[in-house]
Amino acid sequence: MNVLGIESSCDETSVAVISNNILTANLISSQDFHSKYGGVVPELSSRAHLQIIVPLIKDALAKSNLQLKDIDLITATAGPGLIGALIVGLTFAKGLALSLDKNYVAVNHIEGHIFSGFLMEEKPEFPFLALVVSGGHTLLLLVEDFMRIKKLGSTVDDAAGEAFDKVAKMLGLGYPGGPKIQQTALNGDPDKINFPVADLKNTYNFSFSGLKTSVLRYLQKNYIEKEAPGKDLADVAASFQNAVVKAIVKNTEKALNNFEVNSLCLVGGVAANKAIRSAVSQLGKKYDKKVVIPAMEFCGDNAAMIAFRGQKLFEQGITSSLDVSPFPGLSANAFS
Ligand code: KG4
Ligand code: ZN
Repeated sequence: MNVLGIESSCDETSVAVISNNILTANLISSQDFHSKYGGVVPELSSRAHLQIIVPLIKDALAKSNLQLKDIDLITATAGPGLIGALIVGLTFAKGLALSLDKNYVAVNHIEGHIFSGFLMEEKPEFPFLALVVSGGHTLLLLVEDFMRIKKLGSTVDDAAGEAFDKVAKMLGLGYPGGPKIQQTALNGDPDKINFPVADLKNTYNFSFSGLKTSVLRYLQKNYIEKEAPGKDLADVAASFQNAVVKAIVKNTEKALNNFEVNSLCLVGGVAANKAIRSAVSQLGKKYDKKVVIPAMEFCGDNAAMIAFRGQKLFEQGITSSLDVSPFPGLSANAFS
């Protein structure tokens, strides 16, 4: 069984091939040019996806020693994401499926992230807790099997990655903010400034908006001029990152105390953060759980996770419509 995966929900175009359950290609083309605009420009993103998608598919097939006719199943991210960007990948996928007379499965991007731990050699064991931290989402989920996903909590305002990006902007570090904050924080003291960690009592929800505002207030109070606050910049970055770590650990620990799980998975773009990876690993150790955190190439947006999820849905008998409407039959969406 040869599966082609296409991901184009934001600023990464990615094409992957899973051949007989082995990942043979996972090509990712990142649109770095958005950094000069301070964030992703949707229209430019769609155009860049259009330019790169055909060469990426050709390269992924060549790397897998396959031809288009050998593909049995075509999968693509169908949401959530930037509409124009999504349409490029999924209409391309549907066009291919129609012309080659192949099956097509639309995949929910978040579900792709949730199961990205299965791309690793050490796989999660059901039931597991999934902590999805990305630019658009912060979710704590109880994953019972490939079709049963229960939402325990989510952010009530900003996503964790969004908070990283916004604080990086305030600090004049540029976009994307996550890696820049992580880098800057290396020289800072994480305990220097006591930024607040929201505690939404009796829920597993997160909130990062108050934290973001308190960083802004701190900067306004201490730096009237727009000048970079020098050494203190590293302390602000480290203290902010530490507050995000604490928020994530607090909720996850609450869930570990209340649910019997075998594994703990940290997934999504923000899972690339070393401080968060290490805190979640320690937490897993404390509770004697198997911790699965995908390798970097599977943390950010990638088509390998889409192909994997698409194949799992297909194995459950799910296929999606090739209707001309762009978003019919968005995959299982087993959680809400
Ligand atoms: O999953 P992803 O690639 O795209 C979405 O589905 O949103 O996540 C992108 C987010 C961005 O907000 C980016 O700043 C954040 O992941 N990110 C990080 C790091 N690397 C990427 N956040 C914190 N630390 C990092 N090292
Ligand atoms: Zn993502």
